[in-house]
Amino acid sequence: MTAAKQYSNTRVLINKSFEGATPNKSHFRTETITIEAPELKENELFTQALSVSLDPFIRFDFSGDAIESPVIGYVLSKVLDSNNPQYPVGSIIFSPAEWGQYSHISNPEHLGDVNRYDEAIKSSGLPHSLFNGILGVPAFTVWHSLKQVGDLKAGETIYISSAAGTLGQIAGQLAKRKGLRVIGSAGSQDKIDYLINELGFDAAFNYKTHDKKEALLAAAGDKGIDIYYDLVGDDTVDVALDILNPSGRIIAIGVLAMHQNELPYAPKNTINILMKQLRYEGYLVFENYQHFPQFWEEVVPLVKSGEIKFKETVIEDASVEHLGETYVNVLAGKYSGKVSVLLAPL
Ligand SMILES: NC(=O)c1ccc[n+]([C@@H]2O[C@H](COP(=O)([O-])OP(=O)(O)OC[C@H]3O[C@@H](n4cnc5c(N)ncnc54)[C@H](OP(=O)(O)O)[C@@H]3O)[C@@H](O)[C@H]2O)c1
Repeated sequence: MTAAKQYSNTRVLINKSFEGATPNKSHFRTETITIEAPELKENELFTQALSVSLDPFIRFDFSGDAIESPVIGYVLSKVLDSNNPQYPVGSIIFSPAEWGQYSHISNPEHLGDVNRYDEAIKSSGLPHSLFNGILGVPAFTVWHSLKQVGDLKAGETIYISSAAGTLGQIAGQLAKRKGLRVIGSAGSQDKIDYLINELGFDAAFNYKTHDKKEALLAAAGDKGIDIYYDLVGDDTVDVALDILNPSGRIIAIGVLAMHQNELPYAPKNTINILMKQLRYEGYLVFENYQHFPQFWEEVVPLVKSGEIKFKETVIEDASVEHLGETYVNVLAGKYSGKVSVLLAPL
């Protein structure tokens, strides 16, 4: 019997509970251990991380029970060993995996969430980091939620919070392509300039320096707003409920405020839902991955031609040790757009 191959694996663990705290780098620690290539049970995979997608929502996994467990986030990986015919050795997958160089993907929940990306990456000829953002789950979420829930009509006005973030910048551009008037909010003047000057938003305001209601009313003008694309889950929803036109929609997508330790926000102005016959609807991406081929068919050409722009920060010289701190900086708004950390070449 040949000895199992050994790997030196640095990975990130949860050092202490995030409950009641704004995330900081002391919430994480790294360890380097030698692991053996695992004996794979049916459907299991052993993978090498190519790039880590730093997604705000994994914050929900950092509870008290999780201390000392490895951080699981979305990772673009190469399959090194497989007992799963859908994902043979050499395939490139995007899935929940450990923040580390190597991962044994065995949890049935995580196996259910594996997406195969190799064909799409190869045929696009585009850098694989884009498949964490504009060609991956974030953009897919926007593309599909706008189709399924948005009911967009040319001439309407959409307002997007965290508009310069990963999902926000895509939402604005897709809505613009459908003929909508687009308003965004973000937390710095640089981001506002980017929205207006580079992405072609019709109006944008800094939610940190302006009263949200006054700013949104001024941006909306006589036409008001028809859709609020909510990425933050805070009191902005009350402003939207007040301002939305009859038959308006709120699309509940994200809760960035909660990722930053704000309490869940309960809307107060709900009478508007009744009086204006509004629709307030949530969307979750996880049950919709079967539509990815259609998304790529439509969006890859737009990205290649430059018709859709996308700001991303690709951190090439980072090690696993810096993942925790970089994630904290993502939540704090220190980057624009999607942040990916490259750990190995394709
Ligand atoms: N429903 C689904 O299926 C689905 C799928 C994917 C993602 N999501 C969710 O969508 C949301 C957006 O994700 P993303 O990847 O696009 O994040 P993101 O916008 O790239 O997140 C980072 C940005 O959040 C903003 N931010 C942080 N705290 C904020 C606050 N209290 N109020 C307003 N903005 C704040 C910061 O920008 P500023 O400088 O502008 O403050 C920061 O740059 C997340 O909650 C994510 O979990 C949902």
